[in-house]
Amino acid sequence: MAKAKTAFVCNDCGADFPKWQGQCGECHAWNTLSEIRLSGPASKSASGRSNGRSGYAGTTASVQRLEDVAILDLPRLCSGFDEFDRVLGGGFVPGSSILIGGHPGAGKSTLLLQTLCRLAAQQPAIYVTGEESPEQIALRANRLGLPTDQLQLMAETDVDAILASAEALKPQVLVVDSIQVVHSETLTSAPGSVSQVRDCAAQLTRYAKQTGTVLILVGHVTKDGSLAGPKVLEHMIDCSILLEGDHDSRFRTLRGQKNRFGAVNELGIFAMTDAGMREVTNPSAIFLDRSEHIAPGTTVVVVWEGTRPLLVEIQALVDDSSLGNPRRVTVGFEQNRLAMLLAVLHRHGGIQVGDQDVFANVVGGVRVMETSADLALLLAVVSSLRNRPLPRDWVVFGEVGLSGEIRPVASGQERLSEAAKHGFKLAIVPKGNAPKKSISGLKVVPVSRLSEALEACD
Ligand code: TYD
Ligand code: MG
Repeated sequence: MAKAKTAFVCNDCGADFPKWQGQCGECHAWNTLSEIRLSGPASKSASGRSNGRSGYAGTTASVQRLEDVAILDLPRLCSGFDEFDRVLGGGFVPGSSILIGGHPGAGKSTLLLQTLCRLAAQQPAIYVTGEESPEQIALRANRLGLPTDQLQLMAETDVDAILASAEALKPQVLVVDSIQVVHSETLTSAPGSVSQVRDCAAQLTRYAKQTGTVLILVGHVTKDGSLAGPKVLEHMIDCSILLEGDHDSRFRTLRGQKNRFGAVNELGIFAMTDAGMREVTNPSAIFLDRSEHIAPGTTVVVVWEGTRPLLVEIQALVDDSSLGNPRRVTVGFEQNRLAMLLAVLHRHGGIQVGDQDVFANVVGGVRVMETSADLALLLAVVSSLRNRPLPRDWVVFGEVGLSGEIRPVASGQERLSEAAKHGFKLAIVPKGNAPKKSISGLKVVPVSRLSEALEACD
């Protein structure tokens, strides 16, 4: 009998190694490696890498020409939320597997329950709950006034039982909430360990592919925002989506991280209300809930999210620091970027904040990952430092380079149109984004250096 092959897998990041070692070579965590069986006579493991050739010697796989592959043009299933469908690239593709990640309390279960109750009216759907009891789910569905007559509910964490029920009921949509609690009796590794999660997910995705079922897996994320453990899942699923939002904000954003059937940079925006998740169809208007009185330190930027512009308000607070090492705190921005921009402000704008604490925030719990907010952030800092507000109908965008130049950003024209649509009167933009034709109601001030932008605000 051949000796069973084993590997050592990191429980944190999922990297694997042929030998045990104290520290993971990938993520440098200590004591996180555990042994898993890859292949061998006694193994029933369905691990992604257990396709050891030895057991299949003699058989050949069928080969066909690419053009001969039959393309099944199955219609996508609509989730009932336009914002969700957009992130998916136009709805759920039959046979695909989707991973929805997010912090506990982000609203994953709520969003999926709402989606499934509606989908179940048209096609058979099963919601597998491993974390909440059926009573809790039923209570929530009733409170939200969802149609409950069609959805099948299963409180189960054993993957074999889930698959057996799915075989019997033949659902078109199968939700497993969450993949972290699913385990299998036939696997030797501990429940909740990376190899269990990976093997169970592999069995479920294989089932989805074979039967054309839409599989939706819920996954938790760790503190640093990466999917806990199931980083290893990302290669086997078709679509990975993150539901994000601050605890103290009711807004939630749905962002694609990987999508085999659509673009990944789409953003869906929801609000968590007392009637469950509601989609926000005109996000700019919400993030811009501006009062009459404008405080110093706020600016409005037009960011580009996926295929549409979004107006968001940026706030900065600059205050005398009592610390030897002044603080640079950001919410919704990258902190290093703020530090870099402050250095550019000093060097090329002649404005010194070395002895000041600087706090920067994006209103509404949105995360801005685009460099187009650079200039707006710096103008907010200067506005707070000088205690002088910018007029409330000004909008700013542009990337700030290390030599103090203002660089153009993509889709300038659409950003300006969005600002004009929301009643903004003046836009400070990179010279490269200055429109060829004038936009009615909007005065455009093109700038090519940071100093010009600062002059425009004087
Ligand atoms: P939940 O969907 O259970 O989050 P997850 O599955 O991502 O852990 O959402 C729980 C949070 O949402 C909880 O903090 C309460 C809040 N919530 C509302 O505000 N309104 C509602 O209608 C519901 C159902 C939940
Ligand atoms: Mg949940």
